[in-house]
Amino acid sequence: MELHNKVALVTGSAHRVGKAIALALARQGAHIVVHYGTSEGAARDTAKEIKSLGVDALAVQADLRNPDAIAGLFEMLEERFDRLDILVNSAASFVKQPFDQIGLGDWKDVFQANLRAPFLVSQRAARLMRAASRPADQPALIVNIADLSGVFAWRGYVQHGVSKAGLIHLTQVMARELAPGIRVNAIAPGLILPPPGMDPDGERWQQMGQSVPLGRPGHPDDVGEAVIFLARSDYITGALIPVDGGEHLVGPANH
Ligand SMILES: NC(=O)c1ccc[n+]([C@@H]2O[C@H](COP(=O)([O-])OP(=O)(O)OC[C@H]3O[C@@H](n4cnc5c(N)ncnc54)[C@H](OP(=O)(O)O)[C@@H]3O)[C@@H](O)[C@H]2O)c1
Repeated sequence: MELHNKVALVTGSAHRVGKAIALALARQGAHIVVHYGTSEGAARDTAKEIKSLGVDALAVQADLRNPDAIAGLFEMLEERFDRLDILVNSAASFVKQPFDQIGLGDWKDVFQANLRAPFLVSQRAARLMRAASRPADQPALIVNIADLSGVFAWRGYVQHGVSKAGLIHLTQVMARELAPGIRVNAIAPGLILPPPGMDPDGERWQQMGQSVPLGRPGHPDDVGEAVIFLARSDYITGALIPVDGGEHLVGPANH
């Protein structure tokens, strides 16, 4: 897909990995809807940075656990832009919790954010994507940001891992349901950014990075580049692309 003047929605793109994806798309000439949950200031700064690249940007708040908020997000999107070409489902909660202590509410929260929201957002996105005209050999694109915890059985991340496994299967199911007009792919990042609170330059994170085949942690731009690759690759659908320095080759060694 040629990205110039296309419109992309990136969920959870106020900062961290989502921001890198939004900026990568903007650098290719796409206008960006910067979705955020609670990080209003960061989202506005990101939108400003995107606009400085010469494309349009709109920051929109929505708690993705709430279907009405998802509807509101699309109202704002449609008010500003008349089309949607790319959706990146990047927002997610990342919860570590001992198996015995997971309550119904904990389970529900994670599944609403990590699996139900990508489904509901993709459903609305697909309607919009189908309404816009585009060349038959340049389908619209949905990218789900999954996780290696959806492939390997990490300890302590039960609801996170199971929701990401669901997201990987949802990717394949949607790739069939939405073909040929929309391609759907997933990316499984590895050690890209430590959780907030852990220093990316600190010894522990760097040591974890040394344990993967490429011997170092990744960078959010590595995920952004993978999204650009998928956007340009009009014949790829239903794929899961690891961006993990080869961590998938050694399995859940760090967990
Ligand atoms: N970081 C890594 O190394 C890594 C590794 C593997 C996979 N991933 C995946 O890559 C994606 C991005 O990673 P990340 O580390 O940048 O993620 P993150 O910082 O943990 O979360 C991204 C954003 O998701 C938003 N979010 C969470 N729950 C939400 C809700 N209920 N409603 C609306 N927004 C919500 C938050 O927005 P606000 O801040 O605005 O509230 C948050 O900034 C995630 O899907 C993650 O699972 C990341």
